[in-house]
Amino acid sequence: MSSKTGGQWRRADFSRVPYDVFTDPLIYQWENERIFRGPVWNYLCHETELPHVGDFVSTWIGNTRVVVTHARDDSFHAFENSCAHRGAQIVTAVRGNAQRFSCPYHLWTYQLTGELTGVPMAAGVKGKGGMPPCFDKKDHGLTVLAVARFGGLIFGSFSDQAPPLREYLGPHAVAQIERLLVQRKPKVLGYLRQRIPGNWKLYNENVRDPYHGSLLHQFQVSFGLQQPTMKGGIKLDKDLKNTWNHSILSESDKDNQAIVAQAYEGTGKYNPNMRMADPALTQVPLDLGDGYKTTILSIFPSLVVAQVDNTYAIRHLRPKGPDLMELHLTYLGFESDTPEMTHNKLLAANFIGPAGYISLEDGEALRLVQEGVRHRQPGGSEVLEMGGVGPIEDTDYLSQEISIRGFWSFYHRIMGLPGAQVSV
Ligand code: FES
Ligand SMILES: [Fe+2]
Repeated sequence: MSSKTGGQWRRADFSRVPYDVFTDPLIYQWENERIFRGPVWNYLCHETELPHVGDFVSTWIGNTRVVVTHARDDSFHAFENSCAHRGAQIVTAVRGNAQRFSCPYHLWTYQLTGELTGVPMAAGVKGKGGMPPCFDKKDHGLTVLAVARFGGLIFGSFSDQAPPLREYLGPHAVAQIERLLVQRKPKVLGYLRQRIPGNWKLYNENVRDPYHGSLLHQFQVSFGLQQPTMKGGIKLDKDLKNTWNHSILSESDKDNQAIVAQAYEGTGKYNPNMRMADPALTQVPLDLGDGYKTTILSIFPSLVVAQVDNTYAIRHLRPKGPDLMELHLTYLGFESDTPEMTHNKLLAANFIGPAGYISLEDGEALRLVQEGVRHRQPGGSEVLEMGGVGPIEDTDYLSQEISIRGFWSFYHRIMGLPGAQVSV
């Protein structure tokens, strides 16, 4: 094994993933070059966060600082947050409204589009100094990104090689974004963010992993929100990079305690007699009448749009090195919600986030994986065989890791890593 190759990819169906990819600093550097600055669409923010001309949001794509703006012609723009003069970070506020941006250092001034329009003392002072005649402001704008939008989600790309956004998303993602973000006009209810001492790809695995849903998250099982007997499955886009996981809870799942007890046999983790003193949280009605209890849409490389019970949230992954990531959650309600519906959404928001009754364990699981992987002997691999090996395709069941293998197959391709030898 060599740290220069991202470890050995032993199997062509990606049922083995070398642990190196979670720890190797060189791999992390390549990811920033080949993925985050490569031909992908990176989530930036939601349109409702920039309702007025001049509104801006600071964010990240991989390890690059980016600013998103609402320009005068109502178009949206994104640029690297680093001055074209000598590199200073220009915007330090997380969000705000500005007519233009002046770099604090020498006051070079940029328009909302990233264009350079002001260079103090460009003509010199009292006929001395100043910029040379060949200096043209047009050549020194900020590094701008391609921007595309769908369903209010604003995406940016450093590359001009990314496919059209709808094609990149694929039909299942388009349908889900329409279901969650277009049918009703969203409004932001609030934000939470979380630091997780784990690699950003572990989170991508986690959201593509319904296998753990009814095992790690015992709150869900104990109070009837999720059961191993639930119907559901996954749907993938043609590149296998984006996944839609969904689950449907029926009354018979709640009744079928014998199967649940069997699924947990030997674990000592299941207590069918546990009850909540105040079960209001678990009784929030679902807004949508389509029966889906949980739908998790994961868009490569760093976006999740999730409906968990009656909680709607955009989750943005921000890598902070090989072994650290931040998760930014934007909680959504809808313009048409009654005050009671908003109250219910805020109540249900307790499921998700750093201390969420359901998601609290995910951050800890990632920490444990990172810790375990960091202190292993070199050369090991993950085992991803749940749901079967071989072809990577949609399933109509939840006990599977096939969508994780889909993530890795695309990752392996876009990173240009050495081939896996053994077909399964
Ligand atoms: S570094 Fe920005 S104006 Fe000089
Ligand atoms: Fe989870």
